[in-house]
Amino acid sequence: MLSGKVALVTGGAGDLGNEMALHLAQAGASVAIWDVKPESDALERIRRVNLVGGRVLYQQVDIRDRRPVEAAYDQLIAELGGLDIVCANAGIVEAAPFLEITPENWQRHLDINLTGSFHVGQAAAKRMVKAGTKGRIIFTSSWVAEIPWPEIAAYTASKAGVNMLMKQMARELAVYGIRVNAIAPGIVKAGLAGRQLADEPQYAARVAKVIPLGDPGTPVEIAQAVVYLAGPHAEYMTGSILLLDGGCSLFQFDS
Ligand SMILES: NC(=O)c1ccc[n+]([C@@H]2O[C@H](COP(=O)([O-])OP(=O)(O)OC[C@H]3O[C@@H](n4cnc5c(N)ncnc54)[C@H](O)[C@@H]3O)[C@@H](O)[C@H]2O)c1
Repeated sequence: MLSGKVALVTGGAGDLGNEMALHLAQAGASVAIWDVKPESDALERIRRVNLVGGRVLYQQVDIRDRRPVEAAYDQLIAELGGLDIVCANAGIVEAAPFLEITPENWQRHLDINLTGSFHVGQAAAKRMVKAGTKGRIIFTSSWVAEIPWPEIAAYTASKAGVNMLMKQMARELAVYGIRVNAIAPGIVKAGLAGRQLADEPQYAARVAKVIPLGDPGTPVEIAQAVVYLAGPHAEYMTGSILLLDGGCSLFQFDS
């Protein structure tokens, strides 16, 4: 479905991003993986995607800074021959009750989750426009971009910003045929939420009550949605947020 396409996944050494990279490769795309982690810490993850058979390029990139992002795009396009699909997925969460959030904690969320997404998205869009590529840009947002989940105000605010960044880009880039959408995972038993489930008993207690479909989601479900947004069946979608939250957003909680 995606053969001949070149895809990038940021945060591709993490749980959701790596699954996205794997599924994009399985769909036939050549894949670049960006992560702040050194390649030596991501070898298993790279190997997993490599086994599918297509081309895989790993680049250690900190998306907070524009210069390494620009340089990495230039190298990616030189080595893989183009840029068709960008998954701006890298992100962090560091939980803290609102009254205890430090300015540094707040700023880290904005720098990585929002400004990093801007760097990745804008630098990609410039290259797509220049090359005449009707590309796809897919942001990883979250169901909590619209729900004030306790103790992650910096995270929810950054993801709300990602949603508007996505919509703004969708509007301005439609004229070039570039589609821009987001996926909004719910609580996935992996990555950021997986660690919170393991380390924060109060988080696990809340999660146990808020998923109408019962169980947390899986990285595979998220990755399949990304392949859909990257593929021919999503041709008419731009500016959309694809929500995969097991119904969490339907739940009204009282704390
Ligand atoms: N796990 C969930 O339940 C869940 C739910 C909703 C949304 N999300 C979103 O999914 C995305 C992926 O998160 P995950 O759960 O797989 O977590 P993860 O920690 O497994 O993956 C995130 C990856 O991003 C990388 N990263 C962090 N800062 C970076 C930087 N400055 N530059 C480049 N890479 C950087 C990390 O090294 C890590 O490999 C995030 O945007 C997160 O907000 C996750």
